[in-house]
Amino acid sequence: FTSDLIRNFSIIAHIDHGKSTLADRLLELTGTIKKKEVGKNEQVLDKLKVERERGITVKAQTASMVHPVNGKNHILNLIDTPGHVDFSWEVSRSLAACQGALLLVDASQGVQAQTISVFHIAQERGLKIIPVLNKIDLPASQPERIAAQMQSTFGTDPSEILQISAKTGAGVDKVLQAIIERIPPPSGSTTDPLKAFLFDSFYDRYRGVISLVAVQNGILKKGDRIASYHTRKKYEVTEVGIMHPEETPATSLYPGQVGYIACNMKESSEAHIGDTLHRAGVSVDPMPGFKPAKAMVYAGIFPVDSADFPKLEESIKRLVLTDRSVTLQRESSTALGQGVRLGFLGTLHMDVFRQRLEDEHDANIIVTAPTVPYKVVYRDKEVFVSNPTEFPDAVEAASKVKEIQEPVVRASIIMPEEYFGEMMDLCFSHRGEELEHRYLDAGTASSARIMLNCILPLSEIVTDFFDQLKSRSSGFASFDYEEAGYRASDLAKMVFLLNGKPVDALALVIHRSKEDEIGRVWVKKLVKVIPRQQFEVPIQAAVGKKIIARETLKAYRADVTGGLYGGHVERKMKQLELQKEGKRRMKRMGTVEMPQEAFFEIMSTN
Ligand code: GTP
Repeated sequence: FTSDLIRNFSIIAHIDHGKSTLADRLLELTGTIKKKEVGKNEQVLDKLKVERERGITVKAQTASMVHPVNGKNHILNLIDTPGHVDFSWEVSRSLAACQGALLLVDASQGVQAQTISVFHIAQERGLKIIPVLNKIDLPASQPERIAAQMQSTFGTDPSEILQISAKTGAGVDKVLQAIIERIPPPSGSTTDPLKAFLFDSFYDRYRGVISLVAVQNGILKKGDRIASYHTRKKYEVTEVGIMHPEETPATSLYPGQVGYIACNMKESSEAHIGDTLHRAGVSVDPMPGFKPAKAMVYAGIFPVDSADFPKLEESIKRLVLTDRSVTLQRESSTALGQGVRLGFLGTLHMDVFRQRLEDEHDANIIVTAPTVPYKVVYRDKEVFVSNPTEFPDAVEAASKVKEIQEPVVRASIIMPEEYFGEMMDLCFSHRGEELEHRYLDAGTASSARIMLNCILPLSEIVTDFFDQLKSRSSGFASFDYEEAGYRASDLAKMVFLLNGKPVDALALVIHRSKEDEIGRVWVKKLVKVIPRQQFEVPIQAAVGKKIIARETLKAYRADVTGGLYGGHVERKMKQLELQKEGKRRMKRMGTVEMPQEAFFEIMSTN
């Protein structure tokens, strides 16, 4: 065995630039998977149903290939990385197991926001970067122009850029060759004490936790007694193998190899991403650890029917086993009953989780409006608040709170020049600051591309920012962001009063500059969905003692159908039916009765 014959690499790219397609071609070309029939285009590495439906990679998947060069079999380990802005944490941890990366750029689209962010992650990790232009079969592709763009953006030498079509397979053999020629083999020694880097894990119903590891030193085999540096727990290795492309048992894993191990880990929480595994009783220096994933977007998930809570909680727990970056905590609300408060890396992450919950666990759920973690600075302590109900109200804030801070991000948006004005506007209307821009295409006259950078509050991008970016740029702008710490901000808790009584589950954290707008919109919404009561109900939005907006819900008449006449029998029936339905799940909010459905409607239409 020699690690000279191993190459560990990733494909990194902006979403949709063809990562999964290229991965499939590489797996086919090396005979790892059978060539698919023409017309069928399901990707091997995109395994989850939501990934297929949305066409995005969510969970990183890893595969090993064998490729002979000059009669010598090389082992190429492809470590697949997810391509969305929310998942840069996963990208970063996967890259830690690689020595090189293919930087894939769509030759018709050019450098996009995530192309830049993944390039920087790879560069910081000191990886050998192989630039690849994809989709050269498209008539709209402009390889020369995009090559020049890569040269001016990344300092790439144009002679190093490969030109391929992952779809037709043209040029893909050159990619294999470049991987072997340009990426250095991993270094490591078979005689040094065992040291393996744990970079991913998933849960298998029968074998428990399966960890993906990159062996640094020593040999890892079945029967070995190993220990986790992080938890100090000891395990016996019950199986080792490589992903080829599914789990394929092997006798041992050598230095530089990437593979999987099963070792009777019962809980996913035992597999710490970034952990160092070593021989039990033989201490080693740990690999530089990782920052744990940080939840940036929180939302409550409640069952539509309160009786379903135990089942929902069980489903959520099972799903969290497969997605370690989700945090969870029980939550209960007077209005919505028992629920779970979950923390996600971003809104896409949240959507994907929700969809998986619905698809795989058949769960009927309501997800509350997303919030970000705020930092409340008191005179003697700092508290993170990710649930508006726990946010200090204006009275408390005035006397005890020194400052309130919110998380901000450094955003970059890349767009064709003609959308620059729209994108500036978009940033300003979302409280953007420190706007600056530069041209990516040096000196080109027609439809040059601009990169706009600015600081944006995270709370402004967790709702409709991305959708607006896409629609206001006709889909041409791309967007990426990185965390940029916390900044003091003029925030307040807005509460809604029904008949003079505040309703806890409806509280919001808002920026004071938007209090009028938000207050008005919400009371209008409330007056629409809350059914009439036997008495008149004032609906008010308040910040502290100040009433911001008000609507009045008129009293209903004894006969609900009184307002309808003659020909509307069907409507009448329906209304009576609805009233009956509503009765069953009435929640009392102070003196006001409100069907749970009305709540769900308010919460889910953000
Ligand atoms: P994520 O997994 O979400 O990051 O996307 P991806 O980068 O893996 O992109 P994917 O491989 O799913 O390709 C996106 C789209 O581009 C698909 O419709 C592919 O069929 C298409 N595509 C990929 N490579 C080529 C190519 O070389 N030529 C053409 N014409 N289309 C391609």
